[in-house]
Amino acid sequence: MLEPIEAGLSIPSVLAKIDVLSDLSIVIPTFHEVENIPIILDRINRLKEAYDLTLEVLFMDDGSNDGSVEAVIASGYSWAKLIERTGPRGLSAAVIDGFERARYTVLICMDCDLSHPVEVIPQMVLALATGQQFAVGSRYVSGGSTDDDWGIFRYLNSRVATLLARPLTKVSDPMSGFFAMRREDFLNSDDLNPVGYKIALEIIVKCHFNNVAEIPIHFSDRIHGESKLTLTEQLKYLKHVRRLYLHSFSNAMHLLQFLVVGASGVVVNLSVLSLLLLLNLPDTICLAGGIAVSVVTNFLLNRRFTFSYARDRSIGKQFLGFISVSSFGIVVNYLVAMSASKSGLADLTYGLHLSALAGISCGMFFNYIGNRYVVFRKTRIHSDRAK
Ligand code: GDD
Ligand code: MN
Repeated sequence: MLEPIEAGLSIPSVLAKIDVLSDLSIVIPTFHEVENIPIILDRINRLKEAYDLTLEVLFMDDGSNDGSVEAVIASGYSWAKLIERTGPRGLSAAVIDGFERARYTVLICMDCDLSHPVEVIPQMVLALATGQQFAVGSRYVSGGSTDDDWGIFRYLNSRVATLLARPLTKVSDPMSGFFAMRREDFLNSDDLNPVGYKIALEIIVKCHFNNVAEIPIHFSDRIHGESKLTLTEQLKYLKHVRRLYLHSFSNAMHLLQFLVVGASGVVVNLSVLSLLLLLNLPDTICLAGGIAVSVVTNFLLNRRFTFSYARDRSIGKQFLGFISVSSFGIVVNYLVAMSASKSGLADLTYGLHLSALAGISCGMFFNYIGNRYVVFRKTRIHSDRAK
């Protein structure tokens, strides 16, 4: 168990105090990294000896077949293992797979290409021990940097991706592939379902991490091998971000959709009203007609989009429920519209339209609450996959 300890102690004195720093699983997603494997293992070994760590290193390989297996064996480090994966390929899947097999208290993820400095791992673990939930190696906090020859494209790409993630987390570098957390927190996460490269972002959101330590790192360009970040991966990122928005802002997303459907109802309501006015019908009939038709279109659209999770339930019952719940809103709508028009508004140009609008807005609020929490209430937890 990782107990918080006082901040401000030097790393070696903290190491002496808590066992947990000697208890790490380092997971390294690996694809065609044979040249980097011996180098990263030697660097980890130096850390292990300096701090007297108990650790395991799991290289999670997606069938490189480039001698990586032999390279790990040849290193002679008994604590290093290469796992040849058979499940769905990909960086994030490989990391999750590795974390699920990991045995120790602290989980660490890092790239194999020597971009991430192994030497800051003690600082990350120290951050966890002093009460933080997550520690991430960041290029964008003060003291962090990248090699100079990052092209403008790679730089912009990384900044835009980070900006899209801003509503999800305040972390300055959630794109980083270098991070640490407690194993028990990982095991308590919501369903993990990342698409593409951004496993840290997925974990920050699904584990609800608010206290995140950002450790400045220098991100070095790889010397051996090639980057596997392709355009397809970047498109997958957009899909990933959309899913995380749905996950994090499910209430706001429902309300937003309800309001969009409501806005379409306004157009329907006012169009029907105009049509009936052309037929020279009495004002009361024209207003009531606009409301009636828009109630039906609103029901159908809300059932199809806003509350689509409840589409497998009986449409007849839902319509009755929608009408019952909405009837209070309809009465409010009608009364407000009538009293507004009687108050002299009707004499203005489009006066009756304005009255109708006032009625619609007042009715809408009551409708949303009743529909979301009564008629279209959620009856079971749906996973992200179902959205
Ligand atoms: N198992 C497995 N399967 N590993 C993979 C795969 C895959 O399909 N694709 C890449 N990897 C491994 C690589 O071998 C490397 O160890 C690590 O994942 C990162 O891949 P790179 O190809 O070096 O990606 P990068 O340098 O463009 O991306 C890095 O920077 C990004 C931020 O700019 C990584 O740190 C990313 O995690 C990070 O998001
Ligand atoms: Mn890289």
